[in-house]
Amino acid sequence: MNLHGFPRRGYVTRPTPIEPLPRFSRALGAGIEVFAKRDDLLPGCLGGNKTRKLDFCLGEAIAGGATAVITCGAVQSNHCRLTLAWAIHEGLDCHLVLEERVPGSYLPHGSGNNLVFNLLGANSVTVVPGGAPVQEIMSSLARKIADGGARPYVIPGGAADPLGALGYAACAQEISLQLMDSDPGFRTIVCASGSGGTQAGLLAGLEASSTPLSVVGINVRRPSRADQEKLILGLANDALALLGRPRDLDPGKVVCLERFLGPGYSIPDQGTLEAIRLLARTEAILADPVYTGKSLAGLVGLAREGFFEKDEPVLYLHTGGAPAIFGYAGLFGEVPPRLHV
Ligand SMILES: Cc1ncc(COP(=O)(O)O)c(C=O)c1O
Repeated sequence: MNLHGFPRRGYVTRPTPIEPLPRFSRALGAGIEVFAKRDDLLPGCLGGNKTRKLDFCLGEAIAGGATAVITCGAVQSNHCRLTLAWAIHEGLDCHLVLEERVPGSYLPHGSGNNLVFNLLGANSVTVVPGGAPVQEIMSSLARKIADGGARPYVIPGGAADPLGALGYAACAQEISLQLMDSDPGFRTIVCASGSGGTQAGLLAGLEASSTPLSVVGINVRRPSRADQEKLILGLANDALALLGRPRDLDPGKVVCLERFLGPGYSIPDQGTLEAIRLLARTEAILADPVYTGKSLAGLVGLAREGFFEKDEPVLYLHTGGAPAIFGYAGLFGEVPPRLHV
């Protein structure tokens, strides 16, 4: 797989570690050995998966002479946080369009990623209702700021375009090289499947590097398995085409499970909260109620259902998102016992 033809910014300076989670695996008690690929530790303000995608998207933006970026996401968007952070790093303006997918969820002085938008100083925030035509809204914003003399570059929500997906094709290549050094015998990667570039890019990269690992996506946004699988297949094939490969990914390799979504996007259920607590209390690693708590709950649920072989090592892709926890403080209300001395 040749990624050299694409302008990149070099944000991923070293492979993220693949770490065993022995205490988590033991406490889970489902006879599997869980390992985490720690993309929560990627560079960028507070880490997470979008750094890999932005390496390519901002590479193209800057090569084309952009002076400003516009992107969109939910009100606690990790993607918006990281786009803003890398834009600052590059000396670009950054305008955010925030979609209130849960009515009334935008709090101007909210915590979590919202606080970071304020602290880092986004050039503007436009709040729109869930389901609004965000692409059109970003285009009209682009025209407006271009009239003021800026050269805007629009990044789609989640950087979920074929170029952004290449960030995860590069991650697949990275994993494949890491496994050449030491492979516990992984057969499956479990990851969150939202706007889609992470899973699609992984699938494209595994295909292009002939790495025999399957990917199980856990839907964190769409309640329909068929819709998500169609989205991922299209995006993976578009990423393969960018890599100069045939658009012929076997649809059977695209698996997006919807049953761990809970009540809906960004609304955690008991399984999500249990998975977050278990990881926190066994490994001191944070997962969030929107993305990684759900993908981890998916892994836990699958393990309990006997989806994996006995003693199988399973690779969990930790895509980050911990800052959102601070926007959900009320969910984690248990206070340790208080000692008086
Ligand atoms: C922390 C985190 N994990 C996973 C995802 C899902 O990745 P993707 O949108 O590429 O499907 C996101 C998306 O915003 C995210 O912020």
